[in-house]
Amino acid sequence: MAAAVRHQLKPRRVQFDFQDVPLHWIPDDPLATHLINGINLLLPAGELWFCRVYNQALPLVRDAQLRADVEGFIRQEAIHARSHAKAEQFLQAHGLDTDTYRRKAEWLFERFLGDAPFGVPALKRPLLEKRWLIARVGIIAAIEHFTGLLGQWCMDNRSWDRAHPVMADLFRWHLAEEVEHRTVAFDLFAHLCRTELGFYASRQALMAIVFPLFLYFLAEGGRALGKQDKNAYAQWLSRRSLPRMLLELERTGRRTENVPTFSFIVRKTLPWVSPRFHPVTEGDTQQALDYLARSPAARAAAARDGLH
Ligand SMILES: [Fe+2]
Ligand SMILES: [Fe+2]
Repeated sequence: MAAAVRHQLKPRRVQFDFQDVPLHWIPDDPLATHLINGINLLLPAGELWFCRVYNQALPLVRDAQLRADVEGFIRQEAIHARSHAKAEQFLQAHGLDTDTYRRKAEWLFERFLGDAPFGVPALKRPLLEKRWLIARVGIIAAIEHFTGLLGQWCMDNRSWDRAHPVMADLFRWHLAEEVEHRTVAFDLFAHLCRTELGFYASRQALMAIVFPLFLYFLAEGGRALGKQDKNAYAQWLSRRSLPRMLLELERTGRRTENVPTFSFIVRKTLPWVSPRFHPVTEGDTQQALDYLARSPAARAAAARDGLH
């Protein structure tokens, strides 16, 4: 395996006050606003599931540095989940129903990807239990591919300079940490796979499942929130099929740069197919750390923790 960036991961205990944030915090762009607002509802269930799976995987880690990385990853993801749960309250304060979509996310992570999916008792047998655990570690590696590529997109993005600074900082801080820890999930999955071939084959198979699921949940979040908006374009969007949503993502991304284009996501996922792929080459750690050094929320957290 390629060497990962060996960098001490630390949690930043950020806090956000969304009181003055408008629902359309990305101005004049309902598609970007609702797609990204929908992510707020997906992340708490997903990232707390990451933490539960990783806590189960920790005893299997035989490398001290990797164990430290995994522990740092868990601490960061737990704060991500908590921060986005607060952003859900922001959406509720704007009168939006968030339960319907959030319940879909909870079903995915707690029932479908839980310790015993749909109560299947066979997965409680030790050998299968371990294989199911490692498969879920692989699913996290595939999901983290997307958080990493979106993270680097966000670090390079300038259009959000026009967005509301508090909500923009929530996503920028989070996505900077995704760039910072982008190698951990991949390295953990490689560490727990017994052979290089097994690692490669299962990495491809899991991505074939995660990629369409990621697109579906991204679009579905935007649709669930858009249909509650009085804005005519948001209403129109919420009735689009998944392919039409992806087409709109492409058009809007090209026009406004407020969201990554669909072709960008595909282009950045193709390298995953290579046996030599490693996420260390897919992002700029220093660029992420530079953002974290100037993020208002991260700076305030450091001041509270007495680090500055
Ligand atoms: Fe995260
Ligand atoms: Fe992450």
